[in-house]
Parts: sequence; structure tokens; C-alpha cells
Amino acid sequence: MNILIVDDSKLNLQMAKNIIEENKLDCEIALCNSGNEALEYLNGNKVDIILLDIVMPGLSGIDVLKKIKSNDEFKDIQIIMFTSITRKEALKESFENGAVDFVNKPIEPTEFIARIKSAMRERKYKLSLKENLDVIANQNEELVKLNKELKETQYYLVQKEKLIAIGQLAAGVAHEINNPLGFVSSNTETLSKYIEKFKRVMKEYNELVDTIDDKGISNGEITSKIEEIKNNQKKLHIDFIIEDLDILLSDTFKGIDRVKKIVESLRNFARQDDQKESSYHSINDIIEETLLLTKNESKYTIDIRKHLEEIPNILCNKTQIGQVLLNVIMNAVQAINGENREERGQINIYTSKDQDYITCKIIDNGPGIEKEVLDKIFNPFFTTKEIGKGTGLGLSISYDIIVNKHKGDITVDSEVGKGTMFKIKLPINRNSEDS
Ligand SMILES: Nc1ncnc2c1ncn2[C@@H]1O[C@H](COP(=O)(O)OP(=O)(O)OP(=O)(O)O)[C@@H](O)[C@H]1O
Ligand SMILES: [Mg+2]
Repeated sequence: MNILIVDDSKLNLQMAKNIIEENKLDCEIALCNSGNEALEYLNGNKVDIILLDIVMPGLSGIDVLKKIKSNDEFKDIQIIMFTSITRKEALKESFENGAVDFVNKPIEPTEFIARIKSAMRERKYKLSLKENLDVIANQNEELVKLNKELKETQYYLVQKEKLIAIGQLAAGVAHEINNPLGFVSSNTETLSKYIEKFKRVMKEYNELVDTIDDKGISNGEITSKIEEIKNNQKKLHIDFIIEDLDILLSDTFKGIDRVKKIVESLRNFARQDDQKESSYHSINDIIEETLLLTKNESKYTIDIRKHLEEIPNILCNKTQIGQVLLNVIMNAVQAINGENREERGQINIYTSKDQDYITCKIIDNGPGIEKEVLDKIFNPFFTTKEIGKGTGLGLSISYDIIVNKHKGDITVDSEVGKGTMFKIKLPINRNSEDS
């Protein structure tokens, strides 16, 4: 510990130094003759405690004290006023400006040493406190950094889980798109044949008009030309084509619409969503979109029935809710398909509302979940599926989305051999600042 003694009297300086040395205090001592000298000394030397005379020529002890305390670099130094005056005013001012103690002159050794020791103790505590605070601040910084990393990892995992889900669905979705695309393409082919026939008939009509314009033609010739055209129309089945055209176009538009919807659902689902992006959506619509994506996985083995009540749109992040529904529905589909049973499975999807919540129930008659497994299904990375089939993140992400991000609830009820019900509750009137 470094102690600086500042006094204009050399005698006082020497006495103070001697007493400290005699008492073998664990410290280095430096001496300064004036306020200015002391301030200069501080620049470049480490000082823990200053013993500061109040009355000095030039800068007074209180002036020096003020300068030290107003300097960020030195303001933690412990300052003890060193004074022969008993004027309370000067002491009061010293304490107001940050002095911690005072000692009287002439020095009374016992008291003097006791004060110095106490100042040294205090300084030691303060230093160790500061050290601890620094450690805590560092740890805190580290925690903030870790937390940020964790959030990024979690975001990455959510995106990864989505990509895996898309991967699992890709073949099915491609198939779902391929079907309408198939009949759109064959309809277009038929349409182009029809158009060819129309062109032929149009050509004949145009020729007729040209001949009529050509004044030399007789009525008899015109009638036979018209007859010829009518016969041709019959041969080309133009009446049937006109009827078929409407059906063909309407089917084609329906097909294009389906492809559009599937692509839209996929896009909604795959989007790298902005975590904060919430707007009003119909849960029923999100269910419909999700079913478009899962259709191919279920259509040969499962009947999916919807019982969707009229429910209000709610403030939610559509991509996230879509992700939850897709996972819960796919879990049910995979559970049923995993049984390889003879008869078709069933999934019933219900929506309903009460005063505060919208409830969506997804009930399957699959194998059910055993008690020991049931406790773990919301844990990250818990999966009973074979390697490469499931990451085990689906339900933990779903839980986070429903409970933390949307202030709702997701629960499960299951009986082995009978089936499983997932119940998702979402608040109708959620404050947009909740998530
Ligand atoms: N409807 C269900 N019927 C039977 N078991 C289910 C059902 N839903 C979930 N589970 C069980 O819960 C586990 C965890 O589901 P979760 O969705 O979290 O992960 P996963 O489906 O295995 O993998 P991922 O969703 O990442 O592809 C599943 O592996 C399965 O054992
Ligand atoms: Mg899953």
C-alpha cells in the first residue's frame, strides 16, 4: 500500500514518516512539501492513501482535496486530513468534499497509527470490492454474450427444424403439385387442339364473307357454302367443344389455384420469419394451409376431418403458428403411419372459442404415448423416431412458440392403444407487446 504525506512543515513530514516506520506498517511512504508538488506526484505514481495538511501556503489542503476528488483517475484515493486546527468549519468542508478521516497535530502516535491502520483496512476492502465488482461485470458481460449466442443458436435450430420438415415433406408436396399441374398441362393441350379447330372454322367463315363481298356470287352458291361450313362444324364437334370449353377452363383455373395455394403455404412456412412479426390471422386458414402440405403423407392411410367453428382472427405470427400445427399434425400422421395397420387411421381437428381463448384440438387414434415418454416429449431433442426421421425439436419449439411467444398453452393427453390429443390454446386479445 502506498501512502503520500503532504505538509509544508518538513518536521511534521519526518515525524509522521518515522512513526509509521516504527510501527512497521506494510506500506511505502512518499513525502510532498506542498499541494502542487502532491498533485504532480500523483501523475505517474500509485497512491492509496493521502495524509493531507489543511493549512499550507499556495494550494490549501481543501483545494488539493477538491482537485483530487474531481479527477476520475484519483477520486478513489482515501484522504485523511492532517490538521492542527480545531476549527469545525474546515473539517466539515473536508468531509463534504470527500475526506474520510482526520488526525490532529501535534501527532499523538497511538491515535495516529490507529487512524492510518483503519484507512489502510478500508482501502484494502474497497480494492477487493472493486476487484470483485470487476469480476462480476466481466461475468455479466460473458453471460450477456452467451445469452445472445444461445438465442442465435435457438433461432438457427428453429430454421433447421423447418428445413428438415420441408425436406421430409418435399416429395409429398411435389406430388401434390404434380397432380394439378398434370391436368392443367393436359387441359392446355386439349385447348390448343380446340383452338386449331376454331381457327379452321373461322377461316371458312372469312372465306364466305369474302365471297359474299364478291358481288358475282348467286344465292344458291352462298347457301351451299354455308351448308358446307355447318357440316364441317359438325365434323369438328364445335358444339361439344363450346360446351367443354367452360368446364376445361374452370378445371384449369382450379388446378392453377391449387398449385398457387400449395406454393403459398410452403412459402409461408419456410419463410425466415421476423420474430416480432405479428398480425391478425385466422387459425382455421392456417390449419387449411397446413393440411395442404401434409396431404400426401396422409391421403392413402388416414382420414382427416375438420370441425372448424367460426372463430375470430387473432394476433399471431402466422409462420410460427403454422410451424406448430404442421409439427403436431405430422406427429399424429407419423404415429398412425408407423403402426402399419390395416384400417385407415383418423385425425380430427377441432377449433372453438370461448370468451378469452381460441382452442384447437388435434386428436388422433394412433398408438398413444406411454406415461414415461409423455413426460419428455416437450424436451428438446427427445424423439422416439429413428435416426434421420426426427430431430426431436418439433414439440419443444412448438411449446416455446405457443407458451412463451404467444402467451397461450399447449397440452397433451394420451392413452396407449387409443390415441393422443394435443390441445393448443391461444389468447384472443393479446397485447401486441407480449411477445
Ligand atoms: N400424436 C402422437 N402420437 C404418438 N407419439 C407422439 C405424438 N406426438 C408426439 N409424439 C412423441 O413425441 C416425440 C417428440 O415429438 P417432437 O415433435 O418433439 O419430435 P419428433 O417428431 O420426434 O421430431 P421432429 O418433430 O423434430 O421431426 C415423438 O418422437 C413421439 O415419440
Ligand atoms: Mg415432430
